[in-house]
Amino acid sequence: MDQRTGSIDAVQALLGEQGYVADRALSTVVFLALRLGRPLFLEGAAGVGKTEIAKVLAAALGRRLIRLQCYEGLDAASAVAEWNFPAQMVAIRAAEAGGGDTTHLRHDLFSDEFLIARPLLEAMRPQPGGPPVLLIDELDRTDAPFEAFLLEALSEFQVTIPEMGTIRAPAPPIVILTSNRTREVHDALKRRCLYHWVDYPAFEREMEILAARVPEASAQLSREVVAFVQRLRGADLFKKPGVAETIDWARCLLALDVIALSPEVISDTLGAILKYQDDIQRIEGSEARRLLDEVRREIATG
Ligand SMILES: Nc1ncnc2c1ncn2[C@@H]1O[C@H](COP(=O)(O)OP(=O)(O)OP(=O)(O)O)[C@@H](O)[C@H]1O
Ligand SMILES: [Mg+2]
Repeated sequence: MDQRTGSIDAVQALLGEQGYVADRALSTVVFLALRLGRPLFLEGAAGVGKTEIAKVLAAALGRRLIRLQCYEGLDAASAVAEWNFPAQMVAIRAAEAGGGDTTHLRHDLFSDEFLIARPLLEAMRPQPGGPPVLLIDELDRTDAPFEAFLLEALSEFQVTIPEMGTIRAPAPPIVILTSNRTREVHDALKRRCLYHWVDYPAFEREMEILAARVPEASAQLSREVVAFVQRLRGADLFKKPGVAETIDWARCLLALDVIALSPEVISDTLGAILKYQDDIQRIEGSEARRLLDEVRREIATG
C-alpha cells in the first residue's frame, strides 16, 4: 500500500502539499476511492474545486492526468479512439501505386499505426508511473446514451474498438467524474461511484485556501475579501461566486495595490467575482457599501 495515501490524514496532507485545502469529508472520500479502487463522483457549484482535485491528485502521486472533457453530442468514438482516415487513404494509394502484394493491407490499415487514441483508450493503456488519473469532467453536459456507454467502460475498465477488439486496463485508473448538476446523472452510474457534494467552504477554510493560493495577500485584505464573497453568496444572485472567483479577486486587488476594500474599489472590480450584468447592477453602489459595512462590523467583533 502507498504510504502517502495510507490514511485519511495522509491524503489530506498530500493534497495540502499541492496547495489544495480539503476538509475531512472530502479527504475521507478520496482516501476510500483510492483504497477501494472506486470511481469518485464529485458534484457541486461552479468554481468550488472539483476539477482541481483530479489535477492535484495526479501531481501528488506522480501519475499522468488524462482528461475527458464532456460536451453535448460527445460519442463513444470521440471518447475512445478514431481512425486516421487521411493517413489510411495515403497508405492505400501508396500500396496501389507500388503494385505489390496488398493482401495484408486491410489488416495493416486497422492497426495501431492508424489509430488516434482518445482519452478513454489512453487511460486503459499502461502509463509510466502507474495507472493514470482519468478525469471525466462535466459529465452533466453529455446525454444518457453516452452515460450508459461510460457505465460499461468503468465497470470493466475496458473499451472495445470494433476493428481491433477489447482493450483492458492492466490496472484500473483512478477515475474522477465531475458534474455541475445542470441535470441529474443516472443512478446506475452513480451507484458505481463514491459520491461527494463539494460545497462552498466556510470562512476559515476559504481563508486557508486563499493563504495557499495567494500567499502574497495580507491577512487583513484576505479577511475582507473572503468575508465579502461569503456575504455575496447569501445574496439573491443569478450566479454565486465560487472559490475560483475569490482567488481571482484577491489577485486583481493585489495588482491594483489595494490594501483594504472600499465601496469604490469593489464597484470597479466586481467583474472579477460576478459574471452577469444583472448581478453586477444589483451589487454595485449602495449595496456594495452596505455589505462592506456588515463585513467590517463582523471582522471588528471577531
Ligand atoms: N479547496 C481548495 N484548495 C485550493 N484551491 C482551491 C480549492 N477549491 C478551489 N480552488 C481553486 O479554485 C479554482 C477553481 O477550481 P476548479 O476549476 O476545480 O472548480 P470546479 O469546481 O471544477 O468548477 P467548474 O464547475 O466551474 O468547472 C482552482 O484554480 C483552484 O486552485
Ligand atoms: Mg471544473
